[in-house]
Amino acid sequence: MRLYGLTGGIASGKSTVSTMLRELGAQVLDADVIAREVVEPGTPGLAAVAARFPGVLGPDGRLDRAKLGARVFADPTERAALNALVHPLVRQAFLEKVQALAAQGVERVVYDVPLLIEAGLQAGMDGVVLVWVPRPLQKARLMTRDGLDEAAAEARLAAQLPLDSKRPHATWIVDNSGELASTRAQVEQVWRAMLARG
Ligand SMILES: Nc1ncnc2c1ncn2[C@@H]1O[C@H](COP(=O)(O)OP(=O)(O)O)[C@@H](O)[C@H]1O
Ligand SMILES: [Mg+2]
Repeated sequence: MRLYGLTGGIASGKSTVSTMLRELGAQVLDADVIAREVVEPGTPGLAAVAARFPGVLGPDGRLDRAKLGARVFADPTERAALNALVHPLVRQAFLEKVQALAAQGVERVVYDVPLLIEAGLQAGMDGVVLVWVPRPLQKARLMTRDGLDEAAAEARLAAQLPLDSKRPHATWIVDNSGELASTRAQVEQVWRAMLARG
């Protein structure tokens, strides 16, 4: 089983590229989806989070992400405590999914992790795809997609490593600053390279 990371920055085009890879036949696992699954109602993950952060369950028994976010956003100690609870569960769930795919004969998996390089996960990958755009375009697309003003967009960008700093960690860089057709052509090349690696 070969494992490839897919990363970028907020609004750099990870979801766009992930869709293109799926269309080409890639099996893509999404870290954000797994992170939500491990705290679904009834999971040990949700029980652990609710015990450590009282008051973060909504009336429907689901995690109130806005409340939890407000608790950890401005407090690095609380954020670290949350990560220490959730990250091992995400890792375990990810490994189980990879094993299930391997048992089905799947030979390569792409793991979409927005903060892959911030988390140092590139070391465990057989290669990393970085979806890159110039920073002004990243900000413009972020403002348009999420309806943010410039200050709010800047605050979100400032919470991540700049895309230019991620380039040295990438095996393949997809320049998503042009037309979608240009991005698709690059993604096809990356997929062929992954297939060629066996
Ligand atoms: N090549 C492109 N040309 C124009 N718009 C794009 C292109 N790639 C992505 N977008 C748009 O930019 C925004 C961010 O892309 P998205 O794939 O959602 O980024 P991410 O998943 O990295 O946050 C979306 O609104 C998307 O439709
Ligand atoms: Mg996305």
